[in-house]
Amino acid sequence: MAEAHDAVEVIIAKRERRELSDSQIDWVVDAYTRGAVADEQMSALAMAILLNGMNRREISRWTAAMIASGERMDFSALSRPTADKHSTGGVGDKITLPLAPLVAACGVAVPQLSGRGLGHTGGTLDKLEAIPGWRADLSNEAMLGQLEDVGAVICAAGTGLAPADKKLYALRDVTGTVEAIPLIASSIMSKKIAEGTGALVLDVKVGSGAFMKDVESARELADSMVALGTDAGVTTVALLTDMSTPLGLTAGNGLEVRESVEVLQGGGPADVVELTVALAREMLAAAGRDDVDPADKLADGSALDAWRRMIAAQGGDPDADLPTARETHVVTAEADGVLTRLDAMAVGLAAWRLGAGRARKEDPVQAGAGVELHAKPGDRVRAGQPLLTLHTDEPERFERALASLADGIEIGDGAGFAPQSLVLDRVAQTARA
Ligand code: URA
Repeated sequence: MAEAHDAVEVIIAKRERRELSDSQIDWVVDAYTRGAVADEQMSALAMAILLNGMNRREISRWTAAMIASGERMDFSALSRPTADKHSTGGVGDKITLPLAPLVAACGVAVPQLSGRGLGHTGGTLDKLEAIPGWRADLSNEAMLGQLEDVGAVICAAGTGLAPADKKLYALRDVTGTVEAIPLIASSIMSKKIAEGTGALVLDVKVGSGAFMKDVESARELADSMVALGTDAGVTTVALLTDMSTPLGLTAGNGLEVRESVEVLQGGGPADVVELTVALAREMLAAAGRDDVDPADKLADGSALDAWRRMIAAQGGDPDADLPTARETHVVTAEADGVLTRLDAMAVGLAAWRLGAGRARKEDPVQAGAGVELHAKPGDRVRAGQPLLTLHTDEPERFERALASLADGIEIGDGAGFAPQSLVLDRVAQTARA
């Protein structure tokens, strides 16, 4: 059968800054997925999109075409509403771990399809795999059953969801086109819409440890994703949150699980508790359950109970000791003063170089590796006081981890230091243009 369009015609249209028609978009996404458009042609189109952008209609159609490339899940048979959260990724971002059981304990089911980490930001599945016995892979039926029984599932996305995105994301990774906001927005939202959640809260990270380094580009991404969700009938809200310094006091798989359990037990670092509760309130409101206060469910132990059931349902032992690294190295303060900067990217790179993350997707990760923080920006410190503890099984990794931290720590007299707010902005539904 003759093809409806020609790849070169579509590339030239975007190169010349023209709007792509619905039919061109449907065709190019489908033809690329089935191999009729070559990688080099899709690379040229992705670069033209990065340089010349797409409008709301084009992004919405592109997202719909990626959704149509695979299966769609359906949670409408569940007895309670569903809400999911997606973070654009940051250092020490373990929020999904306490958040999913907390929202489940409030009566809203959380179907959280997560990924493994690549580069300096950790993956939620890598963190949970630090728990002895825990399994990431569930069939769609098992996922549905667990959502009904426990109310929360965190598992690997199956290969059937948005296969066009899998192929395109791998291509963007090697062609310098990851940063195109229309492509990031459609990539994330195609998977979330195909997953079938009724409501979605986006945590768009801003700062050195995030994809988006400034508030303006983060807001543009958030606006685009909120519009896509809204157009697809998913109640969608975004919070823009600070990622200039790590979240909480740990970055690394087992270390982050330990900290998440502390939060569920009613303790844990103030910033992790604040963001977990803020996102839970947004998820509950988006799912129509703002009559429940998640802070109460953290305090009364019901979120911890939901966590234990969620871990056990996937083969994990919630009472097992978490793996710890064989070697540690303490980084101390070089002077008396106020810690004015502890850079998220520096800590993320250090954790990665210690073995908590992977360089290639087939690499293994160390469950016990990572960085523990003993101070946060704004804290007064004394020369010689421990600032960080580095954890790894392989002590030869300390040198490169220390090198990545060299420019990431600043101690000053504190004059002019202003603490950064955690939640920087909120983006809610926009009317269709
Ligand atoms: N995460 C995704 O799933 N896709 C992107 O394009 C970027 C981040």
